[in-house]
Amino acid sequence: MTTITIKQILQALSHVDDPDLKKDIVSLGMVKEIEVSGNDISFTVELTTPACPLKDEIERACRNAVKHFVKEAENIKINMSSRVSSVRNKSEILPQVKNIIAIASGKGGVGKSLVAANLAYGLSHLGAKVGLLDADIYGPSVPIIMGLKGSHAQINEQGKMIPLEKDKIKVLSIGFMIKENQPVIWRGPMISSAFKQLINDAEWGELDYLIIDLPPGTGDIHLTMVQHINLTGIIIVTTPQDVAIADCRRALSMYLSENIKAPVIGIIENMSWFTPDDAPQKKYFIFGKGGAEKLSKEYNVPVIGEIPIFENLRSNADEGLNPIMQNNAASEQLIKITEEFARQISIQNSKNSLAKI
Ligand SMILES: Nc1ncnc2c1ncn2[C@@H]1O[C@H](COP(=O)(O)OP(=O)(O)OP(=O)(O)O)[C@@H](O)[C@H]1O
Ligand SMILES: [Mg+2]
Repeated sequence: MTTITIKQILQALSHVDDPDLKKDIVSLGMVKEIEVSGNDISFTVELTTPACPLKDEIERACRNAVKHFVKEAENIKINMSSRVSSVRNKSEILPQVKNIIAIASGKGGVGKSLVAANLAYGLSHLGAKVGLLDADIYGPSVPIIMGLKGSHAQINEQGKMIPLEKDKIKVLSIGFMIKENQPVIWRGPMISSAFKQLINDAEWGELDYLIIDLPPGTGDIHLTMVQHINLTGIIIVTTPQDVAIADCRRALSMYLSENIKAPVIGIIENMSWFTPDDAPQKKYFIFGKGGAEKLSKEYNVPVIGEIPIFENLRSNADEGLNPIMQNNAASEQLIKITEEFARQISIQNSKNSLAKI
């Protein structure tokens, strides 16, 4: 009887490529904990995100490669795990946060807050450690969307704010610090300092992803953010019509300008169409068509996905409910967008080197 060696298994698995990172999974260091017992084999494949849309495909390819190259193998047990990749280094602000992603738009009311909250819900549901920071100092809507309206953040012994929690997501908003309906009249430097406090003076702890929900436009907060934090990426949210596209062009031009050079990693088109519950085969393109695609071509930034208008997304947001848990067309679409979002971050990180925290 021949014994199977670890080297044989690694050789077999070196024929499996990560389709996004365009390298084999052995060179990428993704194969761990190989064990051989007689003709039984087990090993772990560590993906760069728990939200990897290619998980099943990679698992299938590993099984086929082992079957093909290690003929003696009988039981093949593959454990698919993940360790979120990062290129942020430890000396930066929030060193324990692997990826910081801002959700921006040139235009108001396009669904930035809804997208930010639902990406947080989606990532947490798929097993990542997530934080959500509401940087909309003037009109914080995260407390409502996350069902935390009227809650207040506590301060710990070190004087740091403790984020609130919803479905394992750490949430912080200026809305937790002020009285309801209190108008916020702040000037430029105060706005920058409030934003910095939400980042620096809060107990965020270890996170795989921190999502920042930005106010509309390109003002003081946006500039403070790009100067103060080493961001993993910015996502631009737009609706399909020309007025939204025009405003997003301004935002994209600012982020991508020579003196800012912020990493814009994708565009999400929201309110792409409407399908009534009683006519699921119909699509009404209320705000026109193809806006995100147009921006994508002009600025060479990928479209992460499209979110149609779903009545239940609006009502869940108003009631502070998590739509990901509900098995319907909206939750399916949100999971798909979350996976594509996580995938673009992994690709971005691998482009910027495969350093990991
Ligand atoms: N795909 C969608 N389906 C249904 N309702 C949506 C969708 N996207 C957003 N909405 C609703 O549209 C409204 C505006 O969305 P949201 O507050 O997220 O926009 P915003 O870009 O953050 O606005 P602001 O610029 O004021 O911060 C909200 O009531 C939200 O629930
Ligand atoms: Mg908002």
